Amino acid sequence: MPHDNRLPRDAQSILELAARSMFDLFANASEGMLLVDRQARVVWINEQYRRFLPALGYESEADFVGRPVSEVVHNTQMHRVLETGQPILIDLLTNKAGTFVVSRIPLRGADGEVMGALGIVLFDHPETTMQPLINKFARLQQDLDDARRELAQQRRSKYTLASFIGRSPEAQEVKRQARRAAQSSSPVLLLGETGTGKELLAHAIHAASDRASRPFVSVNIAAVPDTLLEAEFFGVAPGAYTGADRKGRDGKFKLADGGTLFLDEVGDMPMAVQVKLLRALQEGEIEPLGSNQVVTFNVRVVAATSRDLAQCVREGRFREDLYYRLHVLPIRVPPLRERRTDIPLLIEALCEDIAARNGMLPMDVSADAVALLQAQHWRGNTRELRNVLEQAALRSEDHHIDAVTVEAVLRRAGVGQIVAPVARSSSEAGEHVPAQTGLLDRPLAEQVRDLERRAMRAALQHTGGNRAAAARLLGMSRATFYEKLASLDEVSKT
Ligand SMILES: Nc1ncnc2c1ncn2[C@@H]1O[C@H](COP(=O)(O)OP(=O)(O)O)[C@@H](O)[C@H]1O
Ligand SMILES: [Mg+2]
Repeated sequence: MPHDNRLPRDAQSILELAARSMFDLFANASEGMLLVDRQARVVWINEQYRRFLPALGYESEADFVGRPVSEVVHNTQMHRVLETGQPILIDLLTNKAGTFVVSRIPLRGADGEVMGALGIVLFDHPETTMQPLINKFARLQQDLDDARRELAQQRRSKYTLASFIGRSPEAQEVKRQARRAAQSSSPVLLLGETGTGKELLAHAIHAASDRASRPFVSVNIAAVPDTLLEAEFFGVAPGAYTGADRKGRDGKFKLADGGTLFLDEVGDMPMAVQVKLLRALQEGEIEPLGSNQVVTFNVRVVAATSRDLAQCVREGRFREDLYYRLHVLPIRVPPLRERRTDIPLLIEALCEDIAARNGMLPMDVSADAVALLQAQHWRGNTRELRNVLEQAALRSEDHHIDAVTVEAVLRRAGVGQIVAPVARSSSEAGEHVPAQTGLLDRPLAEQVRDLERRAMRAALQHTGGNRAAAARLLGMSRATFYEKLASLDEVSKT
């Protein structure tokens, strides 16, 4: 008890009395007490403590007292209390004498220096005295496990194919291919501009596959520094490094075992890692860094990129052999501007989601606002549409979004040229020709390609998929039709 000379004398004596009473209480009510000096030698034990001596392997008190505590009491932590000067108020100690609930308190002299430490055995046989507490703890542990499992469940089914909003033929085709890919365990390659829903589809393919109950693990290759990618993929063996990673670390291949590994932005992978990934995929085994043992894995790979991967191969930035390894089930995810008919539906779904996440009422988007949104180019696709809606929601005070608000947000967001909506003559709302300004905001070649793709798709639809008839309908030779079809990446869709 530190001497506090600010207290009046009678208070000081009360404190001393309190200290003595507490000590006596512990001495009598506890199962035993032990005192060590600054050198961690046992200097005193009380009456009750003596009965532990036989179990600890000592016949008499004389054999025990005077010895270093760590020699006579296995697993003791008394020296830690001496080193740190911090009490360990409650702990479980297990050694050959049994399991005990113990408390360890440093003893300080008048100058605050640690002079020794007091060990108190609060309970022996904690399995009986502590049973209610242990039961409660077990129940809490059970609750925690349940919550974790639920969380993992949510993580697993974050997106399903139903989350991919769209009823256009293009959207339906993507979903059909994704559903088919889910039945297989071959690698899937999702190709499409940023924000088109590649990540969403990767989740959905996993959720629809027979691996749905196993982990879905993703690596965003563009976000991991090149030097760390290898460790990220393959893990680090224990002892490979000193310091933080001394214990070793599991790589994503290991974490995804039995499940799906999503390689996002795979086109950004450095060449050195491409070689190792290829080898891993070919051999179905990996070698953690600093280990000389190979580990087999069972992982389904889904890769995605917003780059033109074939172009990367031609430029020597992506290995051709790896490209063919990944290009087994390619799925082209069309940009939003190729499926404008989905935009009204997407607006509705995104508004609902935004409202739910922010705990507010869903916005009501006016028809002219929808028309304006539908006319835009959407370089950032659904992600960009979502951002614009989020900002519009913030600006509107009455849950109402009109064209004026949308235009202000578009201008602020710097989306480039704002495309004015055109009056529709037919019911095919999505297939409209952009207004005059729209003809100027992107390369002509791209617009021509779009038009060709639309015309060919319409012809195919009209002829029920008969390519020869579709070619005739458009006044093209069959050869030219096939060639164009292939170059427009439509080949896999029939
Ligand atoms: N068809 C869709 N239906 C509903 N939401 C979508 C759709 N496509 C994309 N999104 C949403 O747009 C955002 C971007 O999608 P994401 O899958 O990350 O795109 P990518 O990986 O192609 O860049 C996400 O918030 C996603 O939920
Ligand atoms: Mg992405």
